[in-house]
Amino acid sequence: MKPLYIINFKAYKETTGDKGLKVAKSLDKFAKKSKEKIILAVAPTDIRMISRAVKIPVYAQHIDPVSPGAKTGHVTLEAVLAAGAKGVIINHSENRRDTKFIGEAVKLIKAKRKKVIVCAKDPTEGAKLARFKPDFIAVEPPELIGGDVSVSKAKPQIIEKSVKKISVPVLVGAGVKDFSDVKVAMKLGAKGVLVASGIVKKKNIEEAIKGLTS
Ligand code: G3P
Repeated sequence: MKPLYIINFKAYKETTGDKGLKVAKSLDKFAKKSKEKIILAVAPTDIRMISRAVKIPVYAQHIDPVSPGAKTGHVTLEAVLAAGAKGVIINHSENRRDTKFIGEAVKLIKAKRKKVIVCAKDPTEGAKLARFKPDFIAVEPPELIGGDVSVSKAKPQIIEKSVKKISVPVLVGAGVKDFSDVKVAMKLGAKGVLVASGIVKKKNIEEAIKGLTS
């Protein structure tokens, strides 16, 4: 099976607004040519612009599980879907929430038949959150996020343990840079990877995505 690549734009200035649009278009072009499965997770303010400009799926990086109404500052599921999001990430390490919040968000997203990826800091948390039955649990050791050494190289046992303990398909991330990292993750049973700095912080996006996928 081909790996799934979730490219997380985070709130990097290199992937916000018009710059983000440019990166998204390069990744879209590459996905079309290579037939790789690439998904973009972009800032809420850029979902509409980017989802209209690319064919590959665009996900929201977060939502608040509240119904539309008098909820100043909240990002509702309805708003991100109307903007063109096809899925949602919840509980990213940089935006962690409690179990109740996560459960409510997953329930809302599944009720709309959209994809949901729940992030976890380790296999134990992942196994606990799998009871909400998201499409994927993404395990990312927080200490490796944004660093030079990937989870595949530094802590392959976490991937193995996650796949063993978690009852839904597993993605992994943190420090993933190239195809050697992806191969290890896939060999250990993951379905794909989440990547940010390994793409977003690179000058040549096309070169970076090529190196990630082959
Ligand atoms: O969501 C992906 C992310 O947290 C990993 O970040 O920069 O280590 O690829 P990075």
